[in-house]
Amino acid sequence: MTWKVLAKPLGGDTFFMAEEQSRSIPAFIRPAPHVIFRGSFSTPPPPDPDPMTSGASFPTPTAAVILAAGSGTRMKSALPKVLHCVAGVPMVGHVLATVTSLEMDPVVVVIGPGMEAVAKAVAPHETALQSDRLGTGHAVMQAKAALGGFTGDVLIAYADTPFVSAATMEKMRAARRGPGNPAVVVLGFTPEDPAAYGRLVMKDGKLERIVEAKDATPDERAIGFCNSGIMLADSKVLWQALAKVGNANAKGEYYLTDVVGLARAAGHICTAVEGAADELMGVNSRAELAVAEAILQNKLRAAAMENGVTLRDPATVYFSADTKLGKDIEIGPFTVFGPGVTVDDGAVIKGFCHIEGAHIAGGALVGPYARLRPGASIGADAHVGNFVEIKNAALDAGAKVNHLSYIGDAHVGAKANVGAGTITANYDGFNKSHTEIGAGASIGSNSVLVAPVKVGAGAMTGAGAVVRNDVPADALALNSSRQETKDGFAAAYRQRKQAEKAKKGGKGT
Ligand code: UD1
Ligand code: CA
Repeated sequence: MTWKVLAKPLGGDTFFMAEEQSRSIPAFIRPAPHVIFRGSFSTPPPPDPDPMTSGASFPTPTAAVILAAGSGTRMKSALPKVLHCVAGVPMVGHVLATVTSLEMDPVVVVIGPGMEAVAKAVAPHETALQSDRLGTGHAVMQAKAALGGFTGDVLIAYADTPFVSAATMEKMRAARRGPGNPAVVVLGFTPEDPAAYGRLVMKDGKLERIVEAKDATPDERAIGFCNSGIMLADSKVLWQALAKVGNANAKGEYYLTDVVGLARAAGHICTAVEGAADELMGVNSRAELAVAEAILQNKLRAAAMENGVTLRDPATVYFSADTKLGKDIEIGPFTVFGPGVTVDDGAVIKGFCHIEGAHIAGGALVGPYARLRPGASIGADAHVGNFVEIKNAALDAGAKVNHLSYIGDAHVGAKANVGAGTITANYDGFNKSHTEIGAGASIGSNSVLVAPVKVGAGAMTGAGAVVRNDVPADALALNSSRQETKDGFAAAYRQRKQAEKAKKGGKGT
């Protein structure tokens, strides 16, 4: 499955969308130590391809090097840090989507030993292995071979800094083409607490050098303008400078940041542009992951409302970065959207629903308390009511499954009505089988449809029917035994029981 950036609302956050939607398992999975995320990131069309009207010059070919070799110890996780998800998408996936949205190519992700899961997750993008973690400069050098003879610009980003927007990267590219054609553009920011960040030493509007906090003088430490770590550089200047970077510093590491001073010494101009602090937060711990999640959720909620979606209680609705919503949609409280959900115009999702890998067509009514699992496709004006689970099943227009049902591996025809408590028995312990319910069929309450089975168009099943054989169109299937009715039985039964209890000396009712 390939993923595209769909829109960049509010600060240019990237939104993803699965190209094949409803009946496939979403490529992105939630973080769990035993699973690995699979998926690839495709290159979407250029953001604004009309230089004739925009006056923009054609951007320099840009490659991206994404650093991900850090061990992520503070996450205390068997899963590599950059595969932890924010809004349903692994951190590294956010960065990949942003760089590919700007047509950066090739893209090389630098990984550490034992990070095969990351390599798999980012494929078909290349990875370069940094066997020893000798610093950010050393990490970038490991990507050189994978970049082959690439001669354009190189953007360096961190996989654990997932929110740098396309707009901010564009700003860096614009600065590269700006006054003096600086060879190196660093993305700076002014954090509340500069703490351990590298400080940007500016002079006459140009970047002189970057000094790491540990190596800084008190005067330098007083500088508030800090290095986010994101850098855009002319590849030739970058490789020349990196070849000269040493490790005689407080950490004994090969610092990428030394590239600035070295490039200047070689006669090149360097500069810095400022980015928003909330785009530049790095994620090092589960607590920071939660902060990142909250930031992105708030942006996704705001974007949804901005685009014409009513959220009854925004703070309780959780989206995935790839959730695709039309207009005039209503979403009730406490609803969670897992990866791969598309909702069309005019659908109503009442509260307390859990939805993933599903398509909801216009005018459909879902919930409250509905669970839509991967492959659920809810047709126009169809209804899915409370305590109903739908998996890998399509409901055609106007079909209704309103109460307490499980519909899995099935197709429900237009305007069919599935009675309360109906279960598709789709699994025999070995295989999953399909249930077909024809258009306009009426399934009696508490029916069990033992798959594979077909109920024809316009057919009916009686309440409590166990349907093992196909039911022809317009027929009625019944198999419950005939009802016996005993007049007065209940009253006599109660009398007898009460008498027994009284005899034992128990308290009456
Ligand atoms: C780095 C910058 C600092 C900046 C800060 C922003 C340097 C020398 N310092 O510091 O100026 O303010 O980021 O967050 O660049 N990584 C590797 N291999 C390595 C070392 C790091 O892949 O050998 C990756 C890490 O996975 C991480 C990123 O590079 O994604 C930054 O590494 P980190 O050690 O956190 O750098 P800082 O010391 O915080
Ligand atoms: Ca760091």
